[in-house]
Amino acid sequence: MNRSPKILSIVGARPQFIKLAALTPGLARVSQHEIIHTGQHYDEAMSGAFFRSLKLPKPKVNLEVGSGSHGEMTGRMLVELEKVVIRRKPEMLLVYGDTNSTLAGALVAAKLGIPIGHIEAGMRSFVRDMPEEINRKVADHLSSLHFCASKTAAGNLKREGIKEGIIYCGDLMFELLDNSRKRIAKDQSLLKKYKLTSKGYILATVHRAATTDDRASLVKLAKIFESSPLPILFPIHPRTVARIRQFRLQRAFMPIPHLKTTDPFEYFDLMNVALHAKAVMTDSGGLQKEALFLGTPVLTLREETEWVETLKQGNRLVGLDATKVKKTLANLSKVQKINWTPAGKRPSERIISAILSFLK
Ligand code: UD1
Repeated sequence: MNRSPKILSIVGARPQFIKLAALTPGLARVSQHEIIHTGQHYDEAMSGAFFRSLKLPKPKVNLEVGSGSHGEMTGRMLVELEKVVIRRKPEMLLVYGDTNSTLAGALVAAKLGIPIGHIEAGMRSFVRDMPEEINRKVADHLSSLHFCASKTAAGNLKREGIKEGIIYCGDLMFELLDNSRKRIAKDQSLLKKYKLTSKGYILATVHRAATTDDRASLVKLAKIFESSPLPILFPIHPRTVARIRQFRLQRAFMPIPHLKTTDPFEYFDLMNVALHAKAVMTDSGGLQKEALFLGTPVLTLREETEWVETLKQGNRLVGLDATKVKKTLANLSKVQKINWTPAGKRPSERIISAILSFLK
């Protein structure tokens, strides 16, 4: 029978929508590609806005699992996802990155004997108890095809004994951004809205449990913001808002006159404010790279990064240390724009051709 293979993409969180956006047009041309949304991110600003601005097709199914403890969330996903996968009978399941949705997708497919392609495989922080590290390790060891964004990632997999199906394909986030540069650069309406000037402010984001779920860490973050020589634009993740309230830290953040808080931005708006920022401060993995792709220096509010290559290109690990942040901001070096597309094909083309030859 000559028909195109059925491939399911399991997604649930913001960075997954971004990677999916780079892959979807090509996949739709050569396969019956269906998107299954776990519902891990469900707020309009965290999900709907991304689907709309990235012109992603509507998911075939939304499991609407919502928030909860890791066990609750992953458990609900396993139960619902298994039914969906049995019903839809895909030839391959694609999982993205390192979230609980990645973990659930990989477990369901592995137990049903369906081959898995892991997008952004091989990333390691070497922090064993970090939830993302657990998710990515499990997904990697259950997958047949490992799509690595960097050579370091491919090396990590080999060191863990994975021998087959390692494909160094380059970075899908780079591809999407590279295709969108004109659109990202054009607009200055957000700068006007927040009364900011190009290269005259810092963009900050934090969402990781290690930063937000610990009161002392949030107090340190407030100190960092307070001592910033430039205004700070701070789109706040709902988890961070909740923790600031829970720890009664509103008074630590609110009186800072140069702190401009706002709801999370959709993709193109976030890239726009990252492009015009003097520097980006973040604990996000994706935004570290995206800022550097745009030529904006990054201060990573963690002690380590999975994207070790970025340390040579304008990414500084500053933890939550206000003194380090101040010194780094005083000596910002220029960033050499980085291009994480291996010579030859674009990442999405490499991924799609590897999937098709695997399923042949
Ligand atoms: C998740 C991923 C992380 C990824 C990030 C991208 C895991 C373990 N973590 O982290 O790897 O970098 O997505 O943003 O999967 N919430 C809402 N509305 C939403 C989504 C979340 O209010 O639409 C709140 C809830 O209180 C929830 C909390 O945020 O409990 C955390 O959400 P969750 O999806 O568990 O983790 P993220 O921090 O978003």
